[in-house]
Amino acid sequence: MLVSAKEMLDKALEGHYAVGQFNINNLEWTKAILETAQELKSPVILGVSEGAGKYMTGYKTVVKMVEGMVEEMGITVPVAIHLDHGSYEGAKKAIEAGFTSVMFDGSHYSIDENVEKTKDIVNLAHSKEISVEAEVGSIGGEEDGVVGTGEFADPAECKMIADLGIDFLAAGIGNIHGVYPENWQGLNFDVLAEIQKEVGKLPLVLHGGTGIPTDMIKEAITLGVSKINVNTECQLAFAAATRKYIEAGKDKEGKGFDPRKLLAPGTQAIKDTVKEKMEIFGSIGKA
Ligand code: G3H
Ligand code: ZN
Repeated sequence: MLVSAKEMLDKALEGHYAVGQFNINNLEWTKAILETAQELKSPVILGVSEGAGKYMTGYKTVVKMVEGMVEEMGITVPVAIHLDHGSYEGAKKAIEAGFTSVMFDGSHYSIDENVEKTKDIVNLAHSKEISVEAEVGSIGGEEDGVVGTGEFADPAECKMIADLGIDFLAAGIGNIHGVYPENWQGLNFDVLAEIQKEVGKLPLVLHGGTGIPTDMIKEAITLGVSKINVNTECQLAFAAATRKYIEAGKDKEGKGFDPRKLLAPGTQAIKDTVKEKMEIFGSIGKA
């Protein structure tokens, strides 16, 4: 069932668990995530970066593919198609194409410009019952061309953006895209608690979900995190399983050429990763 992400995240906040956003790149990725969500009776958010959207030939293709899969796979759990780290123009395009949820990432603008642009996107999206995620502060590292400084979010600025009527908020609290470096300082729960105090009952989003220790995830959930984004971890799992299968000569000693067989171990690895995350996030059985 395709839905906006608002209701599922309000419920998650209320129920003290988080819904996973898993980024998609193609049909196999999408199928693996949808199958796992359905098997585990978990709500799920399919994240689409602007780069991945282009790779899949455009937002309309993504929407049609997901709509078709939801129908033909008999998916009954709540599923949102969400633009990840969208630009101002990108968010408008995704809304037009039929996404059920968008992130407008204005974190690299001044706070005034972030406010103005976020306000426009909220008006447009809400006129079509599409949910909106905004960002304050910055997520460190790089994801699909989106580079962040890792600056902590200012709680007062979070309140300014929250007051625009957004549906959930991403805030930089020391989280980083990609694999965490060995000298990573961890999430800053003091900043997170301050933000929660300012924004009240607004679901918070934790980006950079790859490799965050379970105890930190659980603590973040107690402080209002209701959506956790995972991308790199599925990519690493897919790549490792595919490499292992080919290097072990299981593809008929290097002569296998059926793409459905070549992609199967990687697809299974994505399913296993998504299942593990849903267990940690506590979303199983919540659909
Ligand atoms: O926006 C997507 C996420 O923040 C993914 O982060 O690649 O570190 O898991 P990750
Ligand atoms: Zn992110």
